[in-house]
Amino acid sequence: MTRPLSVGVAGLGTVGTGVLRLLRDNADLITARAGRPIAVTAVSARDRTRERDVPTSGLRWYDDPVALAFDPALDVVVELIGGAEGPARDLVHAALAAGKPVVTANKALLAVHGAALAHQAGEAGAALAFEAAVAGGIPAIKALREGLAGNRISRIAGILNGTCNYILSAMRERGREFADVLAEAQRLGYAESDPSFDVDGIDAAHKLAILAALAFNRPVDFAAVHIEGIRGVSALDIAFATELGYRIKLLGIARRTEAGIESRVHPCMVPQAAPIARVDGVLNAVVAEGDFVGRVMLEGRGAGAGPTASAVVADLIDLARGRATPVWGAEAAMLADLPAVPMSAHVGAYYLRLMVVDRPGVIADVTAALRDAGISLESMLQRGRAPGEAVPVVLVTHESNEAAMRRALDQIAAFDTVLEPPALIRIEPV
Ligand SMILES: NC(=O)c1ccc[n+]([C@@H]2O[C@H](COP(=O)([O-])OP(=O)(O)OC[C@H]3O[C@@H](n4cnc5c(N)ncnc54)[C@H](OP(=O)(O)O)[C@@H]3O)[C@@H](O)[C@H]2O)c1
Repeated sequence: MTRPLSVGVAGLGTVGTGVLRLLRDNADLITARAGRPIAVTAVSARDRTRERDVPTSGLRWYDDPVALAFDPALDVVVELIGGAEGPARDLVHAALAAGKPVVTANKALLAVHGAALAHQAGEAGAALAFEAAVAGGIPAIKALREGLAGNRISRIAGILNGTCNYILSAMRERGREFADVLAEAQRLGYAESDPSFDVDGIDAAHKLAILAALAFNRPVDFAAVHIEGIRGVSALDIAFATELGYRIKLLGIARRTEAGIESRVHPCMVPQAAPIARVDGVLNAVVAEGDFVGRVMLEGRGAGAGPTASAVVADLIDLARGRATPVWGAEAAMLADLPAVPMSAHVGAYYLRLMVVDRPGVIADVTAALRDAGISLESMLQRGRAPGEAVPVVLVTHESNEAAMRRALDQIAAFDTVLEPPALIRIEPV
């Protein structure tokens, strides 16, 4: 048999220890599929004395992860530290400079520095593999880059952050508010103590930027992603969504339009009957629409030791077999120069919920502001009557332009009869 693929793993946290465990537990199967054993021979983490739930004795230990890049006995470096800057970036840079293939689960690094790293990998002739960086155990990267490679993709949409999906699902199932469910998710370990990367949509945007680059054959462009998180979603809006036949999901969506590529992460109302509407809890899903294949949906666990390790090991098996594709599916010179479309150019239907003083003329003022902005209404909902007091009013628009909607909203928010900032949620025909 060919000699083992010698692997160095930097980062022995959730994912790193998961990779060591998976390589150990499924060693026979992996050897058969890889054509040779895959052996971790060196590791790096901060704290040498920390108890890990996999044994690391007998492995070469590096306090400095960048030193892994210079270990001549290693065939592959696996980066599982995290972060767009700092030791993770330094390690990947050093490994590629040394001509060593790299496997990483680091979406932040790929989203922010993916174009430069791909250039570096191309120059060095070394692979840079990142299946685990998007949607954990769901093979979304392979699906887009390889399985659907013959298609012109028109749109991708995904539930790309399990923490947000858990929070929105729990808010709906139990009629509870965001802050309440977030605190519970933190207690259960589904949300970080600093949850902003997740709940403010940044993590999902990193993943969307990566998927959009692959889907539309263009350089990764994180700065072009419009990002809104879920802090503003209220239990009231979730209840109205249910009444109107929708579910609220934080989606990452990238779409080919006549003007270029639109990419955005924000809460969406999706029809209850849409398959993605039924993806609840911590699960993730990715939908792709190709001109020959039609619609494809993948669903599964987007995080956690097992699913993420599964994706890392898939990349290692590819490397052991010598299977490699360009980092972004095509050589840099062959990537298309499609422009990014700003959010102001977006066209879609909107859900708008206002808290207004219940008195004659208020609705007429609101509808006049919408009419003046060229926005037409599909339906309106008002529950209960409380003369002189605050009542919610829900308006659903036909397809409208985002810039016009924003203009109308600024006007509406300034009315003294509108008591809270308006809640705006885009309706997405998933
Ligand atoms: N967790 C998931 O479910 C998941 C899913 C998909 C992708 N990812 C990605 O996978 C990567 C790892 O995530 P994780 O959840 O496994 O993180 P984690 O549990 O926080 O583990 C990070 C590891 O990196 C080590 N580390 C941190 N700074 C270091 C330094 N300067 N030098 C050497 N080692 C250092 C830590 O060492 P010590 O243990 O000694 O502190 C720890 O072992 C991230 O890019 C993340 O975005 C994670």
